[in-house]
Amino acid sequence: MGWALAVAVLAAGWFGLRAWGQIRPAPMPARWERLFLNNPVRRRWFGPRQLLAAFGPLTGLSVAEIGVGTGVILEALAQAVGPSGKVWGVDVQPAAVAETGRRLTARGLSASLAVADATQLPWADRSMDRVAMVAVFGEIPPAQRAQALAEVRRVLAPSGRLGITEFWPDPHYQPPSRLLPQLRSLGWRILAVRQSPLIYTVVAEPMD
Ligand SMILES: C[S@@+](CC[C@H](N)C(=O)[O-])C[C@H]1O[C@@H](n2cnc3c(N)ncnc32)[C@H](O)[C@@H]1O
Repeated sequence: MGWALAVAVLAAGWFGLRAWGQIRPAPMPARWERLFLNNPVRRRWFGPRQLLAAFGPLTGLSVAEIGVGTGVILEALAQAVGPSGKVWGVDVQPAAVAETGRRLTARGLSASLAVADATQLPWADRSMDRVAMVAVFGEIPPAQRAQALAEVRRVLAPSGRLGITEFWPDPHYQPPSRLLPQLRSLGWRILAVRQSPLIYTVVAEPMD
């Protein structure tokens, strides 16, 4: 009985958060991110593994992440590019940028980090080989998503690629049935979709 009540309360909380997240998308508060995004279950099952496989070898490349959160994904990207590559990251929340900086420094890794919005990236035109967005697309208000993708297009080098990972039970989860048509309608060619239970990654490139 106690378990049933706990599950019912958790389910009700999740549906409430999801409904609110759809009505008014907003960044997940940084203190929640420590709990939900930086735990062993998340790192093992919903971490960077699928994105890294979808991107393929990254050694020596310039790779950026939009919405770094606690830095779990950027840490893996920094390891994947190696000493000959470089990583950049932005987040709208200063606390997330600070936490990511601490995380990478503690592991002897480096990144160029900034507080910035996805719709105004602080990077030069055609400067990035890969741009990653993990569990962030649904937090950007729908009216700003086209601008965010236009910014990714601006900063991507020729033959550069965008990788988007979405997973349950993120309250802002965007299903492939919604995300893929949106990418195509905004001029992106879908190169690969990797799907596992509860998580998928899309790799896309600008069409022109
Ligand atoms: C759910 S967290 C994911 C963090 C990280 N990508 C990961 O998977 O561990 C989403 C992050 O995106 C950030 N974010 C949301 N909207 C953003 C925007 N418009 N521009 C930049 N960052 C944003 C949030 O502050 C939050 O840290």
